[in-house]
Amino acid sequence: MVTIEKEKCIGCGLCAKDCPANKITVKDGKAEYTPECILCGHCVAVCPRKAVSIPEYDMAAVEEYDRERFTVDPDHFLRALKFRRSIRDYKAMPVEREKLEKILTAGRYTPTAKNAQACRFIVLQDRLEEFKDLLWERIPEMAEQIKEQSPQYSMFFKFLYRRRRKDPADDGLFFNAQVCVVIGASNPIDAGLAAANMETMAVAEGMGALFDGYLQRIIDACPEAKEWLGIPDVPVACCMLLGYPAVTYRRTAPRKLEDVDWR
Ligand SMILES: Cc1cc2nc3c(=O)[nH]c(=O)nc-3n(C[C@H](O)[C@H](O)[C@H](O)COP(=O)(O)O)c2cc1C
Repeated sequence: MVTIEKEKCIGCGLCAKDCPANKITVKDGKAEYTPECILCGHCVAVCPRKAVSIPEYDMAAVEEYDRERFTVDPDHFLRALKFRRSIRDYKAMPVEREKLEKILTAGRYTPTAKNAQACRFIVLQDRLEEFKDLLWERIPEMAEQIKEQSPQYSMFFKFLYRRRRKDPADDGLFFNAQVCVVIGASNPIDAGLAAANMETMAVAEGMGALFDGYLQRIIDACPEAKEWLGIPDVPVACCMLLGYPAVTYRRTAPRKLEDVDWR
């Protein structure tokens, strides 16, 4: 529900003009809202008089625009994206809670289809070892189960299991990361976009990340793991490892030329 304070409204119509659902009209010099909409908050963000609010959201978290503070240097940003690497070797260094909270905020402020904001983020840190044990224990059985439909994955999971049996430090699923964020979402694009912003935020915090597709597949196929995570009925859309990189990259990694068609 959107609330418009009549005393504050000056009838400028900016909210009505920017409403993607056309749910606001200006009548007798005042904006009027007709339910229902996707609660995107554009009306809140655009109002010059702070007359609009969405009480079911945390209105105290709404920030005023300040050009100085919100400018992102384009070259700096592109450099950060180019120097980002998938990290498969992490320092045994704990990740600070405040940094994780900022990373999660980056995920939460990412756009979602229909503004659903329906991603669930499960942060495994204190109980990560417990979860790892649970998952590794089930891998041989799961590898057997998927043998027919995905023989390559099955073989690879058995290979990872054998390696870890020989050397418990050889963990080709968790790479000794300090944190694992599991994103449960029925829309994989929403989860992927959130994860991309979270990774960039992690880089800004001096950390690194890995999108772990194998881990995502395994967890999604393991009902006990999903139960443990509290998302028995939600698809595991993304798994992201986080921590301080133990590897230093000296230059960017080369890429294919853009596959772009300018018309
Ligand atoms: C959706 C997705 C799933 C991935 N899954 C894995 C994985 O299971 N294991 C792994 O080592 N790397 C995984 N990666 C990392 C890619 O291999 C990596 O992004 C690519 O080689 C380019 O390297 P860079 O990220 O350092 O630029 C994944 C990346 C994405 C985007």
